[in-house]
Amino acid sequence: MTAKDSLDPRRIPRHIAIIMDGNGRWARQRGLKRHMGHRKGVDAVRRAVEACAEIGVEYLTVFAFSTENWQRPASEVNALMDLMVRTLNSEMDSLQRNGVRLSAFGDLDSLPSRTRTRLFQAIEDTRHNTRITLSLALSYSARWEILQAVQKLAADVEGGRLHPKDITHTVFRQYLATYPLPDPELLIRTSGEQRISNFLLWQIAYTELYFTPVLWPDFTKEHLFEAVAEFQRRQRRFGLTDEQLRQGVSPAITVDTAIKSP
Ligand code: IPE
Ligand code: IPE
Ligand code: MG
Repeated sequence: MTAKDSLDPRRIPRHIAIIMDGNGRWARQRGLKRHMGHRKGVDAVRRAVEACAEIGVEYLTVFAFSTENWQRPASEVNALMDLMVRTLNSEMDSLQRNGVRLSAFGDLDSLPSRTRTRLFQAIEDTRHNTRITLSLALSYSARWEILQAVQKLAADVEGGRLHPKDITHTVFRQYLATYPLPDPELLIRTSGEQRISNFLLWQIAYTELYFTPVLWPDFTKEHLFEAVAEFQRRQRRFGLTDEQLRQGVSPAITVDTAIKSP
Protein backbone atom coordinates (compact mmCIF):
# COMPACT_ATOMS: atom_id res chain seq x y z
CA MET A 1 0.00 0.00 0.00
CA THR A 2 1.34 3.41 -0.90
CA ALA A 3 1.12 6.44 1.38
CA LYS A 4 -1.57 7.84 -0.92
CA ASP A 5 -3.89 4.87 -0.31
CA SER A 6 -3.57 5.27 3.45
CA LEU A 7 -4.69 8.92 3.46
CA ASP A 8 -7.93 9.93 5.15
CA PRO A 9 -9.76 11.97 2.50
CA ARG A 10 -11.59 13.92 5.25
CA ARG A 11 -8.34 15.25 6.70
CA ILE A 12 -6.45 16.49 3.68
CA PRO A 13 -4.80 19.87 4.36
CA ARG A 14 -6.42 22.65 2.39
CA HIS A 15 -3.15 24.49 2.04
CA ILE A 16 0.38 23.08 1.86
CA ALA A 17 3.46 25.31 1.74
CA ILE A 18 6.88 24.07 0.64
CA ILE A 19 10.39 25.45 1.12
CA MET A 20 11.95 23.84 -1.94
CA ASP A 21 15.57 23.45 -0.90
CA GLY A 22 18.58 21.44 -2.06
CA ASN A 23 18.81 22.15 -5.79
CA GLY A 24 22.43 23.27 -5.52
CA ARG A 25 23.50 20.22 -3.51
CA TRP A 26 21.66 17.91 -5.90
CA ALA A 27 23.69 19.37 -8.79
CA ARG A 28 26.99 19.35 -6.90
CA GLN A 29 26.57 15.68 -6.01
CA ARG A 30 26.47 14.97 -9.73
CA GLY A 31 29.33 17.30 -10.70
CA LEU A 32 26.85 19.63 -12.40
CA LYS A 33 26.42 23.41 -12.25
CA ARG A 34 23.91 24.71 -9.70
CA HIS A 35 21.47 25.88 -12.38
CA MET A 36 21.03 22.28 -13.50
CA GLY A 37 19.64 21.59 -10.04
CA HIS A 38 17.16 24.43 -10.45
CA ARG A 39 16.13 23.04 -13.84
CA LYS A 40 15.51 19.62 -12.31
CA GLY A 41 13.60 21.33 -9.52
CA VAL A 42 10.95 22.40 -12.02
CA ASP A 43 9.98 18.74 -12.55
CA ALA A 44 9.56 18.38 -8.80
CA VAL A 45 7.23 21.39 -8.72
CA ARG A 46 5.10 19.79 -11.45
CA ARG A 47 4.95 16.53 -9.49
CA ALA A 48 4.02 18.34 -6.27
CA VAL A 49 1.22 20.27 -7.98
CA GLU A 50 -0.17 17.09 -9.53
CA ALA A 51 0.08 15.16 -6.27
CA CYS A 52 -1.71 17.94 -4.37
CA ALA A 53 -4.44 18.17 -7.00
CA GLU A 54 -4.92 14.38 -6.92
CA ILE A 55 -5.72 14.34 -3.21
CA GLY A 56 -7.78 17.53 -3.15
CA VAL A 57 -5.38 20.09 -1.69
CA GLU A 58 -6.80 23.48 -2.67
CA TYR A 59 -3.71 25.66 -2.27
CA LEU A 60 -0.04 24.88 -2.80
CA THR A 61 2.45 27.64 -2.03
CA VAL A 62 6.11 27.27 -2.92
CA PHE A 63 9.07 29.40 -1.86
CA ALA A 64 10.73 29.99 -5.22
CA PHE A 65 13.05 32.94 -4.54
CA SER A 66 13.71 34.79 -1.30
CA THR A 67 14.65 38.40 -0.62
CA GLU A 68 17.97 37.03 0.62
CA ASN A 69 18.52 35.04 -2.60
CA TRP A 70 19.24 38.34 -4.44
CA GLN A 71 22.66 38.17 -2.76
CA ARG A 72 23.63 35.07 -4.76
CA PRO A 73 26.06 35.44 -7.68
CA ALA A 74 24.46 37.42 -10.53
CA SER A 75 24.87 34.46 -12.89
CA GLU A 76 22.71 32.26 -10.65
CA VAL A 77 20.10 34.98 -10.11
CA ASN A 78 19.89 35.54 -13.88
CA ALA A 79 19.63 31.83 -14.55
CA LEU A 80 16.73 31.60 -12.08
CA MET A 81 14.92 34.59 -13.61
CA ASP A 82 15.35 33.10 -17.10
CA LEU A 83 14.24 29.69 -15.87
CA MET A 84 11.05 31.26 -14.61
CA VAL A 85 10.24 32.65 -18.04
CA ARG A 86 11.08 29.39 -19.81
CA THR A 87 9.13 27.34 -17.30
CA LEU A 88 6.03 29.50 -17.55
CA ASN A 89 6.20 29.05 -21.33
CA SER A 90 6.74 25.31 -21.29
CA GLU A 91 4.34 24.51 -18.43
CA MET A 92 1.36 26.53 -19.60
CA ASP A 93 -0.35 23.53 -21.26
CA SER A 94 0.12 21.41 -18.17
CA LEU A 95 -1.20 24.17 -15.88
CA GLN A 96 -4.32 24.53 -18.02
CA ARG A 97 -4.84 20.78 -18.35
CA ASN A 98 -4.58 20.29 -14.59
CA GLY A 99 -6.86 23.22 -13.74
CA VAL A 100 -4.08 25.10 -11.97
CA ARG A 101 -4.63 28.73 -11.15
CA LEU A 102 -1.29 30.50 -10.82
CA SER A 103 -0.69 33.28 -8.36
CA ALA A 104 2.38 35.04 -6.94
CA PHE A 105 3.26 37.20 -3.98
CA GLY A 106 6.36 39.02 -2.84
CA ASP A 107 8.16 42.17 -3.95
CA LEU A 108 7.20 41.49 -7.57
CA ASP A 109 8.29 44.99 -8.67
CA SER A 110 11.88 43.95 -8.01
CA LEU A 111 11.76 41.17 -10.62
CA PRO A 112 13.34 41.85 -14.03
CA SER A 113 10.65 43.04 -16.44
CA ARG A 114 10.92 39.94 -18.67
CA THR A 115 10.10 37.72 -15.70
CA ARG A 116 7.39 39.96 -14.31
CA THR A 117 5.65 40.36 -17.66
CA ARG A 118 5.60 36.61 -18.33
CA LEU A 119 4.43 35.93 -14.79
CA PHE A 120 1.53 38.39 -14.94
CA GLN A 121 0.51 36.95 -18.31
CA ALA A 122 0.48 33.42 -16.88
CA ILE A 123 -1.57 34.57 -13.89
CA GLU A 124 -4.05 36.19 -16.25
CA ASP A 125 -4.19 33.14 -18.55
CA THR A 126 -4.94 30.73 -15.68
CA ARG A 127 -7.28 32.86 -13.60
CA HIS A 128 -10.36 30.83 -14.56
CA ASN A 129 -8.90 27.54 -13.33
CA THR A 130 -10.42 26.23 -10.12
CA ARG A 131 -8.88 22.86 -9.22
CA ILE A 132 -5.87 24.12 -7.29
CA THR A 133 -4.12 27.45 -6.72
CA LEU A 134 -0.34 27.39 -7.06
CA SER A 135 1.20 30.44 -5.41
CA LEU A 136 4.82 31.36 -6.04
CA ALA A 137 6.59 33.26 -3.27
CA LEU A 138 8.98 35.40 -5.30
CA SER A 139 11.40 37.98 -4.00
CA TYR A 140 9.60 37.26 -0.75
CA SER A 141 10.59 37.27 2.87
CA ALA A 142 8.31 37.34 5.88
CA ARG A 143 10.02 40.33 7.47
CA TRP A 144 9.66 42.27 4.22
CA GLU A 145 5.99 41.31 4.20
CA ILE A 146 5.34 42.30 7.81
CA LEU A 147 7.15 45.62 7.40
CA GLN A 148 5.25 46.55 4.24
CA ALA A 149 2.01 45.62 6.03
CA VAL A 150 2.90 47.90 8.95
CA GLN A 151 3.82 50.74 6.57
CA LYS A 152 0.47 50.48 4.75
CA LEU A 153 -1.40 50.24 8.05
CA ALA A 154 0.36 53.30 9.41
CA ALA A 155 -0.47 55.22 6.23
CA ASP A 156 -4.15 54.24 6.54
CA VAL A 157 -4.20 55.37 10.17
CA GLU A 158 -2.51 58.63 9.24
CA GLY A 159 -4.99 59.16 6.42
CA GLY A 160 -7.92 58.63 8.79
CA ARG A 161 -9.08 55.46 7.04
CA LEU A 162 -8.36 53.19 9.98
CA HIS A 163 -8.51 53.58 13.72
CA PRO A 164 -5.75 51.82 15.74
CA LYS A 165 -8.31 50.01 17.88
CA ASP A 166 -9.81 48.49 14.72
CA ILE A 167 -6.55 46.71 13.85
CA THR A 168 -7.81 43.23 14.61
CA HIS A 169 -6.37 39.96 13.46
CA THR A 170 -8.87 39.91 10.59
CA VAL A 171 -7.85 43.39 9.48
CA PHE A 172 -4.11 42.83 9.85
CA ARG A 173 -4.03 39.76 7.63
CA GLN A 174 -5.56 41.79 4.81
CA TYR A 175 -2.35 43.81 4.65
CA LEU A 176 -0.18 40.72 4.20
CA ALA A 177 1.16 39.68 0.80
CA THR A 178 -0.54 36.29 1.05
CA TYR A 179 -4.05 37.68 1.48
CA PRO A 180 -6.59 36.09 0.88
CA LEU A 181 -4.83 32.71 1.14
CA PRO A 182 -5.73 30.69 4.23
CA ASP A 183 -2.89 29.73 6.58
CA PRO A 184 -1.10 26.53 5.54
CA GLU A 185 -1.88 23.52 7.71
CA LEU A 186 1.37 21.84 6.64
CA LEU A 187 4.80 23.26 5.81
CA ILE A 188 7.34 20.96 4.16
CA ARG A 189 11.05 21.76 3.88
CA THR A 190 13.31 19.53 1.84
CA SER A 191 17.09 19.04 1.95
CA GLY A 192 17.46 18.33 5.66
CA GLU A 193 17.73 21.95 6.81
CA GLN A 194 15.49 22.59 9.78
CA ARG A 195 14.81 26.31 9.62
CA ILE A 196 12.19 28.68 8.26
CA SER A 197 14.56 31.03 6.36
CA ASN A 198 12.24 34.03 6.60
CA PHE A 199 9.26 32.25 5.01
CA LEU A 200 5.65 32.75 6.17
CA LEU A 201 6.28 33.81 9.79
CA TRP A 202 2.82 35.16 10.58
CA GLN A 203 0.92 32.48 8.68
CA ILE A 204 2.65 29.44 10.20
CA ALA A 205 1.73 30.29 13.79
CA TYR A 206 -0.02 26.90 14.13
CA THR A 207 1.22 25.08 11.04
CA GLU A 208 2.57 21.53 11.30
CA LEU A 209 6.24 21.47 10.23
CA TYR A 210 7.67 18.56 8.26
CA PHE A 211 11.36 18.26 7.44
CA THR A 212 12.73 15.69 5.03
CA PRO A 213 16.34 15.01 3.97
CA VAL A 214 15.23 14.50 0.35
CA LEU A 215 16.75 17.13 -1.97
CA TRP A 216 14.10 19.08 -3.86
CA PRO A 217 14.88 17.70 -7.37
CA ASP A 218 14.40 14.17 -5.95
CA PHE A 219 11.04 14.98 -4.31
CA THR A 220 8.33 12.69 -5.71
CA LYS A 221 4.56 12.47 -5.42
CA GLU A 222 5.05 9.64 -2.95
CA HIS A 223 7.20 11.92 -0.77
CA LEU A 224 4.36 14.44 -0.73
CA PHE A 225 1.81 11.79 0.18
CA GLU A 226 4.11 10.59 2.98
CA ALA A 227 4.27 14.15 4.37
CA VAL A 228 0.47 14.32 4.35
CA ALA A 229 0.28 10.88 6.01
CA GLU A 230 2.59 12.16 8.76
CA PHE A 231 0.41 15.28 9.09
CA GLN A 232 -2.62 13.04 9.58
CA ARG A 233 -0.85 11.10 12.36
CA ARG A 234 -0.40 14.29 14.40
CA GLN A 235 -2.86 15.74 16.87
CA ARG A 236 -3.28 19.49 16.41
CA ARG A 237 -4.18 20.75 19.86
CA PHE A 238 -4.10 24.57 19.47
CA GLY A 239 -3.37 24.97 23.16
CA LEU A 240 -6.08 22.59 24.42
CA THR A 241 -5.58 19.24 26.10
CA ASP A 242 -5.97 15.92 24.42
CA GLU A 243 -8.98 15.22 26.64
CA GLN A 244 -10.74 18.46 25.71
CA LEU A 245 -10.29 17.67 22.05
CA ARG A 246 -11.73 14.19 22.51
CA GLN A 247 -14.72 15.77 24.24
CA GLY A 248 -15.26 17.87 21.14
CA VAL A 249 -14.23 21.27 22.55
CA SER A 250 -13.40 23.60 19.64
CA PRO A 251 -10.27 25.65 20.13
CA ALA A 252 -10.71 29.42 19.83
CA ILE A 253 -7.84 30.00 17.49
CA THR A 254 -6.85 32.83 15.26
CA VAL A 255 -5.94 30.69 12.31
CA ASP A 256 -6.97 32.21 8.99
CA THR A 257 -9.25 29.93 7.11
CA ALA A 258 -11.60 32.40 5.51
CA ILE A 259 -11.21 32.91 1.80
CA LYS A 260 -12.34 36.01 0.02
CA SER A 261 -13.97 35.00 -3.24
CA PRO A 262 -11.62 35.89 -6.08
C1 IPE B 1 16.65 25.98 -3.43
O1 IPE B 1 17.83 25.30 -3.65
C2 IPE B 1 16.29 26.92 -4.57
C3 IPE B 1 16.46 28.34 -4.25
C4 IPE B 1 16.80 28.83 -3.11
C5 IPE B 1 16.24 29.28 -5.35
P1 IPE B 1 19.23 25.93 -3.29
O2 IPE B 1 19.74 26.65 -4.49
O3 IPE B 1 19.15 26.73 -2.05
O4 IPE B 1 20.09 24.61 -3.05
P2 IPE B 1 21.18 24.37 -1.92
O5 IPE B 1 20.55 24.70 -0.61
O6 IPE B 1 22.34 25.26 -2.24
O7 IPE B 1 21.52 22.92 -2.05
C1 IPE C 1 15.14 29.26 1.19
O1 IPE C 1 16.23 28.50 0.79
C2 IPE C 1 14.61 30.04 0.03
C3 IPE C 1 14.00 29.25 -1.04
C4 IPE C 1 13.77 27.97 -1.01
C5 IPE C 1 13.59 30.00 -2.21
P1 IPE C 1 17.72 29.00 1.00
O2 IPE C 1 18.60 27.94 0.49
O3 IPE C 1 17.88 30.35 0.40
O4 IPE C 1 17.80 29.15 2.58
P2 IPE C 1 19.06 29.15 3.56
O5 IPE C 1 20.00 30.18 3.03
O6 IPE C 1 19.66 27.79 3.52
O7 IPE C 1 18.49 29.47 4.89
MG1 MG D 1 19.35 26.23 -0.10
